[in-house]
Amino acid sequence: MYSLIAPLLMRLPPEASHDAALAALHWVGRLQLDPLLPAPVVDPVRLVGLEFGNRVGLAAGLDKNAACIDALGGLGFGFIEVGTVTPRPQPGNPKPRMFRLPASRALVNRMGFNNEGLARLVDRVERRRWRGVLGINIGKNKDTPAERAVDDYRIGLEAVHRLADYVTVNLSSPNTPGLRDLQLGAALDALLAGLAASRARLADEQGRRVPVFVKIAPDLHDADVDAIATRLVEAGVDGIVATNTTIERGAVAGQPHAEEAGGLSGAPLHERALAVVARVRASVGASAVLVGVGGIDSAPRAQAMIEAGADLVQVYTGFVYEGPALVSDAARSIRDARLRSLGLRARGA
Ligand code: FNR
Repeated sequence: MYSLIAPLLMRLPPEASHDAALAALHWVGRLQLDPLLPAPVVDPVRLVGLEFGNRVGLAAGLDKNAACIDALGGLGFGFIEVGTVTPRPQPGNPKPRMFRLPASRALVNRMGFNNEGLARLVDRVERRRWRGVLGINIGKNKDTPAERAVDDYRIGLEAVHRLADYVTVNLSSPNTPGLRDLQLGAALDALLAGLAASRARLADEQGRRVPVFVKIAPDLHDADVDAIATRLVEAGVDGIVATNTTIERGAVAGQPHAEEAGGLSGAPLHERALAVVARVRASVGASAVLVGVGGIDSAPRAQAMIEAGADLVQVYTGFVYEGPALVSDAARSIRDARLRSLGLRARGA
């Protein structure tokens, strides 16, 4: 089916095609057509107290406003991460702000957290029918000064705590000035202290402690990856999502749009994302859930991410280029590899 639709979508400018696909998904959900979609790959895994349907999730940024959870859930994801949502709505950067690099199966984007704000997202999440694991990814508004960034994350955490299965603190978009500086040193310490205080109070009030993940950039020095991962776990963070898009362009030099400002995603990011995942796993051992994301566009690449140390994987750009078959192919391949390693044969495989 996707092979019929994809050429039409690829003829539209990237953001228009993204909007058209999301509108179609939204209506699949509204008309309750999602039960007609193929059954997902069942490969349940229990991590941080949550039961993931399989190990392949949707990465943040595709459904920023939680407008399509039900339809996306019907495409076989083992978990879905919506957002990034900021406390107040904001328009993001001027268009064009998303570019295709088809020769490398890549995208460059500088969306800049365009989103409808926390109140709208919360309202939509409350009305979802899909009951799989839902992560909500939170960020800061562009016009919130750096010294008040912690306030935005605390507002986000407080708004979504009772609704989210897990919350991802996004410190790694290259498209909000100063955001990535929050990954380091005193800024990180202040953020973690603020979040810990909110978490303790919310857990007390609501009788439930929501797992918190932090999403990191691929453009960190190796020593910083190690130090950040260790610091996050010490501070009680439950999971690390590695990685966001990259500002590196070496792998796509000379291609049309390669020099557009923003973050590069897709195949050229894969090798660095794998390396970051491996470093994080080496630093934290088994003490955190690790979500591997970056350039997964095939079942072997999903499997490679698991072998590098990820418990779970996420896809975005590969899903755009390859369509929903990527989700089931990757989930099945991960399941079958695990069963093989246990000396079992997958049923119906
Ligand atoms: C993203 N990504 C992203 N990440 C995030 O934490 N919050 C966001 O709002 C967005 N927005 C966003 C928009 C677009 C157009 C793209 C392509 C990506 C990053 C995404 O979740 C993922 O980390 C990277 O894209 C790497 O994975 P892929 O795309 O190579 O599978």
